Amino acid sequence: MNSSAAAGCTRRVAILGSTGSIGTSCLKVIDHLPTRLQAWGLSAHSRWEELLEQACRYRPRYITATDPAAAQALALQKMPVGTQLLTGEDAIGTIVSDPDVDIVLTAIVGAAGLTGTWLALQAGKTVAIANKETLVMAGPLVMELARQKNAKLLPVDSEHSAILQAMQSGQPCEIERIVLTASGGPFRGRTRAELADITPEQALKHPTWNMGPKITIDSATLMNKALEVIEARWLFGLEPEKIQVIIHPESIIHSFVEFTDGSIVAQLSPPDMCLPIQYALTYPERLSGGAKRMKWDELRCWNFQQPDLETFPALALGFEVAKRGGTCGAVLNGANEAAVGAFLDRRIAFLDIPRVCREVLDHHNYSERPALSELIALDRWSRQEVLRWIATKE
Ligand SMILES: NC(=O)c1ccc[n+]([C@@H]2O[C@H](COP(=O)([O-])OP(=O)(O)OC[C@H]3O[C@@H](n4cnc5c(N)ncnc54)[C@H](OP(=O)(O)O)[C@@H]3O)[C@@H](O)[C@H]2O)c1
Repeated sequence: MNSSAAAGCTRRVAILGSTGSIGTSCLKVIDHLPTRLQAWGLSAHSRWEELLEQACRYRPRYITATDPAAAQALALQKMPVGTQLLTGEDAIGTIVSDPDVDIVLTAIVGAAGLTGTWLALQAGKTVAIANKETLVMAGPLVMELARQKNAKLLPVDSEHSAILQAMQSGQPCEIERIVLTASGGPFRGRTRAELADITPEQALKHPTWNMGPKITIDSATLMNKALEVIEARWLFGLEPEKIQVIIHPESIIHSFVEFTDGSIVAQLSPPDMCLPIQYALTYPERLSGGAKRMKWDELRCWNFQQPDLETFPALALGFEVAKRGGTCGAVLNGANEAAVGAFLDRRIAFLDIPRVCREVLDHHNYSERPALSELIALDRWSRQEVLRWIATKE
C-alpha cells in the first residue's frame, strides 16, 4: 500500500465489477466510511447506465466498461467533472496500476476477473479478492506473483474472511484444520431425484444470501463450496486434508479454525457481505461501519449437518481438484461457468452441471505445473468441451 493507506488515512479503492452484487455492497461500505474510503476507479461490463450513475454519485478518477457496446454508449455521455472514461484493452490495467490507488477490490464474476487481479498484483497493489475463480484457476501462480511483488491478497469471501480473522488466534503451524461453513443452498435436504427438474428460477432463490446469478447457481449445486475449498487451499497454503465443510443453514458462523491444542475459533455475524468487504478494505483495522448487527434477543439455535456428497457431487469435485492441483482448477472452473450458463439458458438440467464438469475434468490433458498461458487456453477448451457435450445430447 502507498503511504496514504496507513491507519487513519483515506484509502483510494478501485472496484472491478462495481455494478455487481459485491461491487454495489462495496459502494455501500464506502458510503458509511466516507473519510476512510474513496472510490477512485470503477469498472463494469454491460450495465453502463448504472456505472454512469455511480460515476455521478462518487466522482471517481476513472471509469471503464469492458463490453464494447457499453463503452460506445458511455462515450456519448457527459462525464462528471473530474472523471475520465477509459476505453480499450488497457483500461483496467491503467486503473489498477494508478499510483494513487491503495487497494483493488476484484469483484468481476468468473474467469474474466483473472486479468484485473493479475495486473493489480503485478503493480504491487493490495488486492481484496472476491473473484474466487482467479484462485481456483491459477492459485499457485497468483500467490507466487503476490509474494514476488510483496502485495497483500485479502479475502472477501465471508468464509475466507472468517478464517483470516480466526487464524490470528495462533500461528499458521498451529492450525490443525479449517472448517468452511455452507448454507446448503435452496435444495438442502432434497434427494437427487427431487433435483431432476429444478428450474433456473428455483435455483436462483437463495435462502440466506442475495448474490449475482452465477454464484447463486453455484451455491445451489454446492459448486460454490467446492470453489471455496480450492480457494482456501491456495490462499492459506493449506493441505487439502486440513480443509473440511459443514452445512450451517443460518449462515451466521462463517467458518472455524481448529488449532493443535483443540481450541476452535470462529467468526460470526449476520449474513451481510458488507462486513467482509469492509474488513478487507480497512484491514487490519475494525471500524464502525454499516454492516448488519446480530439481533441477540432473536437468537434461538444454530444447526449443523454433514454435506450430502451423493446429492451434491460438485463438492467432491472441489476436494479432488484441491488435491490434484495443476491444470484441474482451470478446467473445473471453465467447465462450470459454461455449464451454469447453459443451465440458465435452459439447455441442460440442474444435475447436468456437476455431471458435465466431471466428464470434462476426467478427459483433459493434465499437467502439474502449468504456465498461465496454458491455464487460459484450458479455460477456453473446457468451455468448448461443455458445448460439445451439450450438442451430443440435443
Ligand atoms: N455476491 C456475493 O455475495 C459474493 C460473495 C462472495 C464472493 N463473491 C464472488 O464475487 C464475484 C462477483 O460476484 P457477484 O455476485 O457480485 O456477481 P454479479 O452480481 O454478477 O456482478 C459481476 C460484476 O462483474 C462484471 N462483469 C461481468 N462479466 C464481465 C466481464 N466479462 N468482464 C468484466 N466485467 C464483467 C459485471 O458487470 P455488468 O453488471 O456491468 O455487466 C458486474 O459488475 C464472483 O467471483 C463471486 O464468486 C460474491
